[in-house]
Amino acid sequence: MTGNGLRTIVIGFGQIAQGLGEDGRMAKFFTYATHAQVLRDHPGFQWLGVVDPSKEAQKAARDVWNVAHVSEDLSKVAREVEPEVAIIAAPPGARAEIVQQLPSLKAVLVEKPLGYGGEEGRAFVDFCRQKNVHVQVNYWRRGDELYQQLAQGGLAERIGRPQAVFATYGNGLFNNGGHLVDFIRMLLGEVDTVQALDHPRPAEDAPLEGDVQAAFALTLAGGAIVTVLPLDFGHYREVGLDIWGEEGRLALYQESLGVFHYPLAGNRGLVNEMEISSDKPQVLEPTVGGALYRLYDNLAETVDGTAEPWSPGDQAVHTELILESVLNSAESGCERLHFQ
Ligand SMILES: NC(=O)c1ccc[n+]([C@@H]2O[C@H](COP(=O)([O-])OP(=O)(O)OC[C@H]3O[C@@H](n4cnc5c(N)ncnc54)[C@H](O)[C@@H]3O)[C@@H](O)[C@H]2O)c1
Repeated sequence: MTGNGLRTIVIGFGQIAQGLGEDGRMAKFFTYATHAQVLRDHPGFQWLGVVDPSKEAQKAARDVWNVAHVSEDLSKVAREVEPEVAIIAAPPGARAEIVQQLPSLKAVLVEKPLGYGGEEGRAFVDFCRQKNVHVQVNYWRRGDELYQQLAQGGLAERIGRPQAVFATYGNGLFNNGGHLVDFIRMLLGEVDTVQALDHPRPAEDAPLEGDVQAAFALTLAGGAIVTVLPLDFGHYREVGLDIWGEEGRLALYQESLGVFHYPLAGNRGLVNEMEISSDKPQVLEPTVGGALYRLYDNLAETVDGTAEPWSPGDQAVHTELILESVLNSAESGCERLHFQ
């Protein structure tokens, strides 16, 4: 927590900042599930402050993580620390006001969603650009090693051109729906059209207030259609993606912890035909445990001027504009909307 790294503060010290690290099952897969775990270990960052109105969160910052400057008052911590990096892990709202109060800032790592709809995120990203503050958004799959390999040709090599894609998510469109759409764009390219398939329903018990569960379809620039259906996490959790290519199938299940490749094989019921080996997957080793840490590596390099952010603000805005288009399509009676 000390050293010569970038002077860093965390704003919002709840689940993603520190609480999820206490989940023993998550720890099996995610060496780095929270910002606190990365900041404890990463030599590129000097973690000096925490800002949170909750007394309990402040106590955890002081007693569990030994953070030197802890308060509910952002301007106080800002004066004491003069942060170069802010980790914004509070719920959406007031993100630009936070940056406004930190004149020494060089970069933010900000939680998703940037806002409830693309425009709020756009205003935040434009404001950061004006202030010369780099933005990395924690759509963490963009930091994952295996997913990066898949996006950079590994997927096409295994399954060829996608022809049909099925996807599921739960706990809210602007929550896991955002992760899913961002992941689809990362792996499969840009979205040409957006169409709601039904009226969105309120997302009961979802983490983001007012969020909805929406069923929708996306047409990709490459021509394939992705259908996305919501699940009730009250029964079980899943954020899944099942990609049927011309030369194989790749599925990412168990919220991306299970990655399965199904190659082509001779058809068992017909001569001179092929089938997908859906009963014989090749399991790919997940690398999710290091994804958040790698986003920090990349952020430090971005501040140094030696890299561009892997999950930049503009990409997050684009993803969140697609989510907003789902709502617009639903309002227009499920019209198919062309997305720029
Ligand atoms: N990237 C991911 O995979 C992931 C996972 C979980 C949550 N999140 C996102 O992280 C954000 C926080 O979610 P969470 O589950 O940690 O919520 P949480 O409710 O557990 O924690 C939020 C914390 O922020 C504090 N807070 C609220 N307003 C604040 C303000 N203006 N300044 C400082 N602190 C403030 C609260 O007191 C609370 O301690 C949300 O945007 C959520 O979508 C992302």
